Amino acid sequence: MGYKDVYDSWKADPEAFWMEAARAIDWDQTPSKALFDKGDNLYEWFADGKVNTCWNAVDRHVEGGRGDQVAIIYDSPITGTQSKITYAELRDRVASLAGALRAKGVEKGDRVIIYMPMVAEALEAMLACARLGAIHSVVFGGFAANELAVRIDDAKPKAIIAASCGLEPGRVVKYKPLLDGAIDLAEHKPELCVILQREQEVADLIDGRDVDWHGFQDGVAPADCVPVEGNHPAYILYTSGTTGAPKGVIRHTGGHLVALNWTMKNIYNVEPGDVFWAASDVGWVVGHSYICYGPLIHGNTTIVFEGKPVGTPDAGTFWRVISEHNVKSFFTAPTAFRAVKREDPKGEFVRKYDLSCLKQVYLAGERADPDTIVWAQEQLGVPVIDHWWQTETGFAIAANPVGIELLPVKLGSPSVPVPGYDIQVLDDAGHPVAAGELGAIAIKLPLPPGTLPNLWNAEERFKKSYLNTFPGYYETGDAGMMDEDGYVYIMARTDDVINVAGHRLSTGGMEEVLAGHPDVAECAVIGVTDQLKGQMPVGFLCLNAGCDKAHDEVVAEVVKLVREKIGPVAAFKLAVVVDRLPKTRSGKILRATMVKIADGEEFKMPATIDDPAILDEIKTALQTIGYAK
Ligand code: COA
Ligand code: AMP
Repeated sequence: MGYKDVYDSWKADPEAFWMEAARAIDWDQTPSKALFDKGDNLYEWFADGKVNTCWNAVDRHVEGGRGDQVAIIYDSPITGTQSKITYAELRDRVASLAGALRAKGVEKGDRVIIYMPMVAEALEAMLACARLGAIHSVVFGGFAANELAVRIDDAKPKAIIAASCGLEPGRVVKYKPLLDGAIDLAEHKPELCVILQREQEVADLIDGRDVDWHGFQDGVAPADCVPVEGNHPAYILYTSGTTGAPKGVIRHTGGHLVALNWTMKNIYNVEPGDVFWAASDVGWVVGHSYICYGPLIHGNTTIVFEGKPVGTPDAGTFWRVISEHNVKSFFTAPTAFRAVKREDPKGEFVRKYDLSCLKQVYLAGERADPDTIVWAQEQLGVPVIDHWWQTETGFAIAANPVGIELLPVKLGSPSVPVPGYDIQVLDDAGHPVAAGELGAIAIKLPLPPGTLPNLWNAEERFKKSYLNTFPGYYETGDAGMMDEDGYVYIMARTDDVINVAGHRLSTGGMEEVLAGHPDVAECAVIGVTDQLKGQMPVGFLCLNAGCDKAHDEVVAEVVKLVREKIGPVAAFKLAVVVDRLPKTRSGKILRATMVKIADGEEFKMPATIDDPAILDEIKTALQTIGYAK
């Protein structure tokens, strides 16, 4: 069957389609049906089944004869080490860790925050939670203590599992002071912290609260898998958008297993046993779906890579890992390829390695610019597939479904809707627009299995953020169009989200930090185009009357403040002081116009602008930091 047949078969009977896909999962109790309509536009999948994620990702492969197959390859050019864990070893390690957590009182439904770098133990921690039915929430290591504290107060974890440090090139990121600081800041106090001591930094443990990862497993009985309901939350993953407060995206267990397993062959074109590598971080959705769960559920070998595309040690790292570990499908962010291309435009490093194992490359996380795709295709000689998705959906909304059929690649488009998604482009009134016309991209409800059923403890926010604007649809927050052939084009966000080096950030969150500076009266943050990172945040500051501090000093202080409050990952390094911000007559800041000025693009003078002269002041200010040329 080709793509069209598969898509049409899904559309003709979505429930039958997903029930069939669910047969590839080991259920303790088979669900009686696929879709559960909860009313009020809320849906759940496989709600009355019983199942365990860890069983499906680990134990069943051992039972099925894959015990000696490598499950996880840890490859760290930063530490210069590698290790391999077979499925049988993984089962024993995860059962032991889960047993120790259970002995400390962690049970089904308890939340566990995981704050770890790219080491195999991060996956083991996720799987140990899944084994017990505990709900994990992984927090990216590049966030500051304050962001961790916000997540602690929202998820209210019984335990936190952390490492003593992460490793950035040339810098040891000490996690323990960040963790201690976050727990101090948070109102909720976890009972237990499990600390994986790394040799680069041995952290002090707090008596009565902290335990050593290895020590607390001594002499404890391993835990078996606990079956949970299909609609039991497997995890919560916080993501940015709309306001500074992150949204806790919930993933239900049953749909997560079914959908991810389905994507491994149909989108990523791998068979069980193949090596699959997503060069991302466990703190992001790509890490959840395609470093940890997808490949393991499907019986693949996954790679945990602790390094960067360049500088660890050079722009050939990706190719070394692919060739050394026999990677068949490789997934990364366009920004990573741009970084490699900048250092190795002619592909000299590419030719140092035998890449005959590599069959296809996938890009997501931000718009894949045609130059980058063409460069990668020419260098690697394999299809380079852009695909579009979000933390909320957990797997691709639009993709070129290579495992079903490689469709013609159209540069600038992540191709066609994945079965499960009825994508519509809508005008402001919620009516579908014609092919080729711009609009808000929405998905007809219900969303497929594996996507978010709700936000953690925030049902009203869920409805407001995603369901209310276009009744009967999920609002993606992306704008774009579809062409005559049904190819989707993602052009911009409709909210305050920007994408910096493939990292999703909220300009609203940064504005909240800037507004907290005592000398700042008013501010705005916009995302300007950046050749390497896709976008970069730029702040505009209006200072309080009477503030006689040098502007450079205030700028340096706010840059430091964002690093402290949000974290280095915000990459907030540029800000300018201006007298006024451009606004509409009703007082709305004209951020979109400011972006166009910064990027040197043509723009239409907004009809509702209060005072057009301010735009010249903005342009002059941007020119002082190298933009608006
Ligand atoms: N822990 C602590 N700090 C981190 C971190 C982590 N896990 N990840 C990033 N940071 C820090 C970086 O060290 C940097 O700090 P600095 O300001 O002191 O230099 C800062 O956060 C910004 O990081 P980043 O935006 O990633 O820039 P970079 O210059 O370090 O690297 C790229 C640029 C393009 C090489 C890198 O961003 C990259 O590989 N991106 C791919 C992203 C990706 O895989 N996204 C997932 C979606 S698929
Ligand atoms: P995240 O939740 O971090 O995965 O970010 C999701 C957002 O990143 C999407 O809503 C898009 O704005 C953007 N994005 C992800 N993949 C793509 C893509 N292939 N093309 C364009 N934008 C993308």
